[in-house]
Amino acid sequence: MPTLIEVYKKATKKLENIKRDESDIRLLLCEVNHLENMSEFYLKKDEEILDLDRFNSLLERYQKREPVQYIIGKCDFFGSKFNVDRRVLIPRVETEEVALYALRKITSVFGDKKIVLADVCCGSGCIGISLAKHTEISTLFLSDISRDACDVAASNLAFNEISGFVLNGDALKPLIKHNIKVDVIVANPPYILNKNDVQKSVLDYEPHNALFTTDNLDVYRSIIMDAQKVMNDKLLMVFEIGYDLRNKLITLLQELNIPCTFTFRKDMNGNDRIFSILLERTIEA
Ligand SMILES: C[S@@+](CC[C@H](N)C(=O)[O-])C[C@H]1O[C@@H](n2cnc3c(N)ncnc32)[C@H](O)[C@@H]1O
Repeated sequence: MPTLIEVYKKATKKLENIKRDESDIRLLLCEVNHLENMSEFYLKKDEEILDLDRFNSLLERYQKREPVQYIIGKCDFFGSKFNVDRRVLIPRVETEEVALYALRKITSVFGDKKIVLADVCCGSGCIGISLAKHTEISTLFLSDISRDACDVAASNLAFNEISGFVLNGDALKPLIKHNIKVDVIVANPPYILNKNDVQKSVLDYEPHNALFTTDNLDVYRSIIMDAQKVMNDKLLMVFEIGYDLRNKLITLLQELNIPCTFTFRKDMNGNDRIFSILLERTIEA
C-alpha cells in the first residue's frame, strides 16, 4: 500500500484543475486512517494508507463537489466536533461568532445565574451544545421543524455528552405547547433571500429548508411574535441574520410593536450579521 503522503500528492495533482482546498484531502486521509487531526496526519504521513479503495471512493464524491464535512460525517465548531450529514446545514464559521457573542451577552445580562436556553432552528445543535459547554445552563432545549435535524441534534447531544431535550416543531410552538419558559433563545433561522447568493455546491447538497427565507422573514417574525409567551422575567434573543436583513428586521420590530431593546453587531466585513433583542417584563403599578 502507498503511504499517506504519496496518496496525498497524487490526489492533489488529480484535483489541480477543480480549485478545491488541499486541506480537505488531508481530512479524507485522516478519516480513512482513523487519525484525530491534522497534527496526527503530519506525524504519520509516512505510514501506509489503510484502505486505498475507500479513499478513492471518498475522493470521487469530493470531486463531484460534495462538501468534505458530509463525506466524513463530522465538522468542527467552537472547539468541538459535531456529526453532520445531508439532513442538516454544515455549521459555518460566522455562526461561531454568534455563539461567542451570545456567551458574552448572557454573562452581561444574567451574570452567573444558571439559565434555561433554547436553540431554535438548531440543525445539528451546534450553537446550543457549544453554549452549554461554556456557560452555566440549567436546562437546554434544541428545536427544529425538521425531524431529521432533530435526530442529528440528538446524536450530537450524546456525542458531546451534554444533556438536553430535543423538540420538533415550528419556531417557538413546541416550547409553547409544553409550557416551557426560557431565559435565552439563540437562533440561526433560514435567512437567504436570493438563491443567486448561494454557491452551487451548497444548493446541490445542503437542505434548502435550512437556507431560504422570504421577504416576510417568516421564522424571525414567528419567534419574535411569540417570545413573550415563553419568557421568564427577562428574555435575551440572539439571532444570526443575513447581511441584507437589518432594515427589514427594524421594520418588523416596529410593526410588531413589542417593547424591547435591540442591537446589531457587524462581522469583520462590516455587515450586520448578529441581531440581539432583550425583553423585560415591566411591573405594573
Ligand atoms: C440556517 S440552519 C441553522 C442550523 C444550525 N443552527 C446552525 O447554525 O448550523 C436553519 C435551521 O432552521 C430549521 N428551520 C427552518 N424553518 C423552521 C421553522 N419554521 N421552525 C423551526 N426550525 C426551522 C431548518 O430545518 C434548519 O435546521
